[in-house]
Amino acid sequence: MKVVFLSPTYPPEMRQFTRGLAEVGAEVLGVGDGDPDGELRRHLTDYLRVPSIMNEDDVIARVHAWLRGREVDRVLANWEPLMMLAARLRERFGVPGMAVDTVRGFRDKQLMKERVAAAGLRVPRAQRVRSVSDVWAAVETTGFPAIIKPISGAGSADTYKVADATELLRVLPRMGHVHEAICEEFIDGEEHTYDTVCIDGQPVYENIIRYIPNAIEMRSLEWVSPIMLSVRDLEDAKVAGGVALGRKVLTALGMDDGMTHMEWFRTSTGEAVFGEIACRAGGAMVVDMMNYTSDIDLFREWARVVTARRFEGSRERKYSVAVIFKRAQGQGRISAIVGLDAFLARFGAHVIEERLLRPGTPRRDWKNTLLSDGHIVLRHPSDEEATRMALAAAREIQMYAA
Ligand SMILES: Nc1ncnc2c1ncn2[C@@H]1O[C@H](COP(=O)(O)OP(=O)(O)O)[C@@H](O)[C@H]1O
Ligand SMILES: [Mg+2]
Repeated sequence: MKVVFLSPTYPPEMRQFTRGLAEVGAEVLGVGDGDPDGELRRHLTDYLRVPSIMNEDDVIARVHAWLRGREVDRVLANWEPLMMLAARLRERFGVPGMAVDTVRGFRDKQLMKERVAAAGLRVPRAQRVRSVSDVWAAVETTGFPAIIKPISGAGSADTYKVADATELLRVLPRMGHVHEAICEEFIDGEEHTYDTVCIDGQPVYENIIRYIPNAIEMRSLEWVSPIMLSVRDLEDAKVAGGVALGRKVLTALGMDDGMTHMEWFRTSTGEAVFGEIACRAGGAMVVDMMNYTSDIDLFREWARVVTARRFEGSRERKYSVAVIFKRAQGQGRISAIVGLDAFLARFGAHVIEERLLRPGTPRRDWKNTLLSDGHIVLRHPSDEEATRMALAAAREIQMYAA
């Protein structure tokens, strides 16, 4: 099977998906604007380097010329900004897989909600906005507090919660560069993900991650140590509603083969409310967390699913997995880590990754990468124990920079 895979070099986990494709026997034809190193090259049959992978029309023309006379069986991507490019390439070359219109339902946050709502599912009230006057009209419907964000954003960029008209006035000038946005009713609830590997829209692997705190707070409050917690027991009443919602959303949007990443809120009344969904793997450490939950390799199983429509991983949920991201106090280089030794003395047996930046290393930009100044991964068979240890890591480990 010949597979075109977009951007094998970036983001970092794309290397793993490339490896997975090679391991299930696909010939991987990479297309990207990065420079694959020797190790990645081993998994690539060929590589087309383009000036900018974001320039869709240019990439389509170049791939067309490059592939002349060669048959390809799949065109795949697993990075949000390239999902539409992959769909356009599929349509152009008559390759099977999700069509442009289907992918739009996973990219355009207004269309997505309309399609999900049409299936009778609970979504936030929302309106597409293209101008300042659109925004004022939209908040008449959504009310305050409201959320305003790009129509097809990612990583909480340019996303604002506004409590009232005064705050909205302050935020509007900062949205000037966003051509199309969406205004939404603010949903007060605990945010979770619902992640899957699907064959023909039917999940063959499912996972729920709880965000502590919600993503918008992780991205706006520097002092917070964000926690992502992969829940072991999917039948727990706290998350079962999200699983049920997620399955219906996949059907409503016409999911095909591949991974999906949905976000939803559990309100204080226990209702599961749709947030958003993408037809690709979750970023940051989401796939690693699922791999640690079941001791499997979903990079490879994704590849098997999208090439052979078979899933051979275990669905057994062995652990609750927590990732805790840390941020140093102060600017410049990391100067000290306090509390780590004591934490490891208590919980070290459950820690499976400890990647806090060491003294002397420059701080990372926490606004740009959730990875922040390093992370700890731990796991435990009990959801309660994993949560307790994660909260302890958030509170008791401090990093400093100077
Ligand atoms: N309607 C909403 N109600 C409450 N919080 C929201 C709402 N929309 C977005 N958020 C918050 O903002 C974050 C980013 O919004 P999201 O639609 O997920 O955009 P992105 O594509 O950037 O991830 C969400 O994860 C959530 O924390
Ligand atoms: Mg999101």
